[in-house]
Amino acid sequence: MAATLIKGAEVAAQIREELKKEVDELKAKHNITPGLVTILVGEDPGSVSYVTAKQKTAHELGFHSIQDNQDASISEETLLSLLDKYNKDPQIHGILVQLPLPKHIDTNKVLYAINPNKDVDAFHPVNVGRILIGQYAFLPCTPAGCQELIVRATGDPKGKEVVVVGRSNIVGKPMVAIMIQKLPGANATVTCVHTGTPKDKIIEHCKRADILIVAAGVPKYVQADWVKEGAVVIDVGVNRIGMTESGKAKLAGDVDFDTVKEKASFITPVPGGVGPMTITMLMKNTVMAAKLSAGLIQI
Ligand code: GUN
Repeated sequence: MAATLIKGAEVAAQIREELKKEVDELKAKHNITPGLVTILVGEDPGSVSYVTAKQKTAHELGFHSIQDNQDASISEETLLSLLDKYNKDPQIHGILVQLPLPKHIDTNKVLYAINPNKDVDAFHPVNVGRILIGQYAFLPCTPAGCQELIVRATGDPKGKEVVVVGRSNIVGKPMVAIMIQKLPGANATVTCVHTGTPKDKIIEHCKRADILIVAAGVPKYVQADWVKEGAVVIDVGVNRIGMTESGKAKLAGDVDFDTVKEKASFITPVPGGVGPMTITMLMKNTVMAAKLSAGLIQI
């Protein structure tokens, strides 16, 4: 039986609708307009298209939003003083520095200079720690999007065997931290396999998964015979595997979709699965940051 597709765009649209109501209420009841600045250094076409999409969504939700474009030659010192300005700006609740940064800038130094309560990427070590101990206001956007897809499409993962493939700081590690929390939408038994796990063990663990979350960075890595009948499969991979006839990039996930869909009960497609959720979770984080700054929520 073919799996049900988890359509990220539909779930994202539903969450944005909920957020719009929350934003309208924040404005009407508390006189707060969530504020987001996205800082782009240089003109990398991929980064330009990401920040444009982030700003478009922020506008649609009625945020106070600023696109701050800086020349690729900006010094680290000037970038740090720009962050200091936004850290102090009461109208800005969320700060995002689009990555990658030019080589002459120390990325960690920049990310660590963001006020953790405005760090809507949740990349700052303070937020990484907060997430691990379960005391957080926001989660990194991509793993948070995976959690929303799992919960909304398939129900609460409490007590389920979750296997995460990959241990990146942006997806794999926070995904583990999220799913092990003693909280609704989590409370799962979690295993993480990675490049240090022997291949036969990776397959063995994947075969046990009720929920398999794959962020390996290898196109079509997970095969159908690694997947338990009826498993939920979340594919975080976005790999360019060539060009379509119309000149567009041809994408593949980290899961061999055509065969795995015959084993899984639910599966995210690539594109159209996890991807559309990421920007929506950034918007959610900005709303949470606005509430945090107003004392409407506490960490
Ligand atoms: N570049 C690609 N993805 C991201 C992201 O999620 N956050 C930031 N800041 N930069 C990125």
